[in-house]
Parts: sequence; C-alpha cells; structure tokens
Amino acid sequence: MTVYKFPHNFLWGAATASYQIEGAWNEDGKGESIWDRFSHTPGKVTEGNTGDIACDHYHRYPEDIALMRQLGLKAYRFSIAWARVLPGGRGPINPHGLDFYDRLVDALCAANIEPFLTLYHWDLPQVLQDEGGWENRNTCHAFADYSALMVKRLGDRVKYWTTFNEPSVAAFIGNLTGEHAPGYRDPKIAYQVAHNLMVAHGLAVQAIRGANSNLETGIVLNLWMADPATSSPEDVAAAEAAWERDETLFLDPLFKGHYPTGAYQLAGGNMPKILDGDMALIAQELDFVGINYYSRNVIGVKGKVNTIPGSEYTEMGWEVCAPALRRMLVKINNNYSLPPIYITENGSSFKDEVSADGRIHDPRRLDYLKNHFIQTHLAMQDGVDVRGYMVWSLLDNFEWGHGFSKRFGLTHVDYKTQKRTVKDSGEWYAELIRTNKIGG
Ligand code: FCB
Repeated sequence: MTVYKFPHNFLWGAATASYQIEGAWNEDGKGESIWDRFSHTPGKVTEGNTGDIACDHYHRYPEDIALMRQLGLKAYRFSIAWARVLPGGRGPINPHGLDFYDRLVDALCAANIEPFLTLYHWDLPQVLQDEGGWENRNTCHAFADYSALMVKRLGDRVKYWTTFNEPSVAAFIGNLTGEHAPGYRDPKIAYQVAHNLMVAHGLAVQAIRGANSNLETGIVLNLWMADPATSSPEDVAAAEAAWERDETLFLDPLFKGHYPTGAYQLAGGNMPKILDGDMALIAQELDFVGINYYSRNVIGVKGKVNTIPGSEYTEMGWEVCAPALRRMLVKINNNYSLPPIYITENGSSFKDEVSADGRIHDPRRLDYLKNHFIQTHLAMQDGVDVRGYMVWSLLDNFEWGHGFSKRFGLTHVDYKTQKRTVKDSGEWYAELIRTNKIGG
C-alpha cells in the first residue's frame, strides 16, 4: 500500500467563518451586518434560517477549542465579524467585540493551535452597505483602517492574515445572482465590487504591513478546475475559455498585475472604474495564497455538463473529483509565480444521520477528504509548494443561502441542544494529523 507522508511542519487545520458559527448577532454592542439584514429578509434563506444563534460559538468558544484539541488541529482558520469590532464599520470601537477575539486568540495560543485569521468572510457592516457598500471606494479605505486596527490588537499572536475570502463569490453571488447578501442582481455593481475588493485587498496589505512587518499576509481564492467534456479540440478550447472567464479575473490582477483580456470583453459596458495606480496596488507581493477547492466544472461546446455518468455528487450538487485538485494546483503553479499555497477550504456536504449508537458514520466525507489529501500530496511531489490544509468545516454550520440544510462539519451539531459530536471523518482526520501520513 502506498504511504503518503506529509512534511513534519504541514499545517493541518479546520476552517469556519464568523457569520456561519458565532451567533450573538446583536449582543454586547455588535452592529448589524449585511448577512444579518439578508437572512432577516423573508425568502432569502432556506426555511428562513438565520445566523442569529448558529453554533453559538460566541458563547461556546472554549468548548470548541477543546474540540480542536481533541482533533489535534495545528491551525484554526476563522474570520472576524467586522461589525462586532466596529459596529459602524469605522469610528467608535466596540471593546467587547475586540475582547472576544482577544480571548479567542489567547485560548488558541494556550492550546498550541496556530490562529489563521480572515478579515473579511462576507459580513460587511450594514452601515457601510447603506453608503453603497463595496461599490463605494470609501469602503476600501474603511477596510484598510479596520485591518490595521485588528493587526495592532492581535498581531503579536496571530501570524497569518488573510484579507478576503473568495472575492469572486462576494462580488458575483452577492451582486449578480443575488443569492448572497446584499442580494443585488446588477452586473454593473458586481464588476465594480469585484475591482474594489481587489483595491481594498491592496490597501489592506499595505495597512497590515504598516502596522506590523513580521506577519504573513495573503488572500483566499476559490477555484474550480475546468475540464473539457471530451478531448476534442473544441471542448478543450471551451474549457480553457471557461477557466479564463471564471478563474483568472482575480488570479491575473493579483499575480500578473493586469486583468485578463477576456474579462474586458465579458464586462463590456459594465467595465468598472479603474484608477491610475490601482493595478500596482493590487499586485503587491504576498506571503501566501489560500485556495478553496470543492469541485470542478466539466465544459463542452454547449457549456457546463451537469451530470457526468459514474460520478458522485455531494448534497450541494457538486461533483466529487479529487484528481482535478491536483491538475488545478499544477496548472496555477505553471501559469503564475505564486507564493506558498495553503488549501484554506476543502470539504463536502452529505446527509448525515445520527446512528442508534449516537455516532455519525460519514464514510463518503471521509473518502472525499482522504482522496483530496492524496491528490494534494501528489501535487506537492509535482513541485507545488503546499504548506497546509484547512478542512471545511470544524462544525456543521449556517451554509449561507442554504441555511442549516447542508452539513459540512467534521463535527455534527445538534442545533436544538448545541451538542457537538465528532463524526467518523473527524476521528479519522485526528488520526491522520497524529501520524501525519495516509496509508501504511
Ligand atoms: C465556500 C465558503 C464557505 C463555505 C463553503 C461551503 O465558498 O467560503 O464559507 O460556505 O463554501
């Protein structure tokens, strides 16, 4: 049996995001975020679910850190709720909000778990949205100020700083398809937001480094490999065009300093306003890039092929295809000069059931993870510099527009009692972290 041994300092972890787990949506001086507003708007989220309580992590974080210890996590990726710290997005600080993250980080350090912090995982303060949100460039400056504030408070203990989680989802699912907050369906807004998120990233990188020069600063992108439906030259060209359309819009400005030509054609009259100096601001050197990977797109001349015979699909309707992760890592490694890579999210939603013995047997999630870890290991042998891996997610949680209907956790959450139960996949992951290898 092949043994896949990982480097001794490989950063195994799990990820969450503030709105998906914290709850306490209006406690201790927290301001409203666009996700509070969106989920409180009837018809936006499955079954009217909200993140008002979610996993109640705000109150239960000590228990959740005990859980992380049980799993043996070396790192924990989480995000800050901007409106908890700055209820108005800028201006007066809410000391209780800052104290919460201070306690969280202290507890992580005491548990010997590396904090991997995300500044923006989609919960913009509503006050800023009322002023135009990310369409308004002032929000970029507010973000940079908020970033510096967080670094000043936590930079002595938090080494890894991520500006944005998945800017493409924030821009296009939030403002083009309207399935996420703030729920617009307007291409003009969406393209301007996409650009402004990049500008805000650049300003924040400067602000982070200005506040503390010893940190590792990066960004997290979600990428879906584009595979051709057949090996015909037409399908191959269609897949390549889809990759360029969907995946290079953020990779190119960040790592090449310009937008891909296809982006201009696609945006047409909705081309965003780009100021002199923006591209240099965006393309600053980073210390790492985070990649979130879940699935691939299979593309033919007629567009995306939704059902691949013989393929397995998750509850999200996403095809399970681990080898595409390796191909994609190799592809981006060849096409760009990248800093070290962390897989910042990877995981799957399946229908979990609590068995009579109280356990959650989730062999499909376990296999999903195992196969993706192996493909990452193979990509590393191909020369891709992957330094760590954060499973999505530590806990079942509020899955955005799907509410609580989709479970991604290594740990099951009973939302009525808030009881946490580590699933079989979680037990298996703990063992993997302990031995640092698969097989053998
Ligand atoms: C990603 C998000 C994360 C989670 C997973 C399933 O796009 O970053 O918050 O919802 O999808």
